[in-house]
Amino acid sequence: MTILVTGGAGFIGSNFVLDWLAQSQESVVNVDKLTYAGNLANLASLQGNPGHIFVQGDIGDRALIEKLLKQHQVRAVVNFAAESHVDRSIHGPGEFIQTNIVGTFGLLEAVRAHVNGLSDTDKAAFRFLHVSTDEVYGSLSPDAAAFTEQHRYEPNSPYSASKAASDHLVRAYHHTYGLPVLTTNCSNNYGPYHFPEKLIPLMIVNALAGKPLPVYGDGMQIRDWLYVKDHCSAIRRVLEAGRLGETYNVGGWNEKPNIEIVRTIASLLDGLRPRADGKSYAEQISYVTDRLGHDRRYAIDARKIERELGWKPAETFESGIRKTVQWYLDNQEWVAQVQSGSYRDWIAQQYQG
Ligand code: NAD
Ligand code: TYD
Repeated sequence: MTILVTGGAGFIGSNFVLDWLAQSQESVVNVDKLTYAGNLANLASLQGNPGHIFVQGDIGDRALIEKLLKQHQVRAVVNFAAESHVDRSIHGPGEFIQTNIVGTFGLLEAVRAHVNGLSDTDKAAFRFLHVSTDEVYGSLSPDAAAFTEQHRYEPNSPYSASKAASDHLVRAYHHTYGLPVLTTNCSNNYGPYHFPEKLIPLMIVNALAGKPLPVYGDGMQIRDWLYVKDHCSAIRRVLEAGRLGETYNVGGWNEKPNIEIVRTIASLLDGLRPRADGKSYAEQISYVTDRLGHDRRYAIDARKIERELGWKPAETFESGIRKTVQWYLDNQEWVAQVQSGSYRDWIAQQYQG
């Protein structure tokens, strides 16, 4: 049997594919459009591995997806493919609507057609797992309880609104057509292969390059941080034992203000790769104009997945961030490779002045 992963050349998807093939005999068909965020270098270690079948394609291409599902006798789909960066969604929401909503719709239609043609046994075993975000729940006040699966949807950015719409489509395909779906809503991931437009990798890469560390607004926005390999293990567990039609929140129990994250990275680098002038990397911190509509706080209550499926994160923030900083120090070539022309254009546009 085989699973089909979408967006498996992106940050979380590539970590998932690598982890999956390290632990399972089951092959992976990896469908990725290879946008600016898709990078086959993340999967270089799989070269020559017959268990990894890469196909460049769009999740909205129903004919392609249906063909692949049939040809490879796929028993589960894990949908990572998305436009994922909030700041980009503010500059240009169109791609987010196209991939996250219209694309997910096309994927669901292809899966529905495929599942309809399966035997009752294969139908009962089939799974469609949709990977979503805590950002669909909106922003929390400082004292509010963390997001449970019952929290109402209140997305505030074009990105989170498009993810919320995709979650609703997935839910509707279960209720209306009986599609065997599972949804996970996780907090901010960090770890290897994270594209350096997002907070943690951007800070590491800028620090090492002697560039400013741009902190939006007052830096007191709070996020929960989840080490990417913990996220991958949660997805495997939900795929294995999650109840159909259910949503599972996945978090790291690591709520931290952004400025604390940046200071932690600076101090780790001070120890691991001291600046030539002996000063701290924290000197490079630079407060910049805040993001439009910036959500103040996200926090995940991950008790349901622990109670029902026995999943808990293995990493603390301290252990995960140390591994992450070390990974970037050890993988400078990967960093140089992703800093392509389009990456430089984005940085110039976003951080001008
Ligand atoms: P990413 O931007 O690093 O990767 C997305 C991948 O999807 C890329 O490889 C890209 O080429 C591919 N892709 C984009 N449009 C496509 C399309 N139309 N068809 C096929 N492939 C397409 O994203 P990520 O950080 O790995 O996130 C993966 C998923 O997890 C997303 O659905 C995202 O919303 C969700 N998520 C991410 C985080 C996070 O902290 N990174 C947190 C919560 C949820
Ligand atoms: P990001 O990594 O873009 O993830 P998300 O917006 O999905 O949470 O940003 C994490 C937090 O860091 C968010 O509050 C915005 C902030 N941030 C900065 O302060 N500076 C930056 O340069 C970036 C990219 C993000």
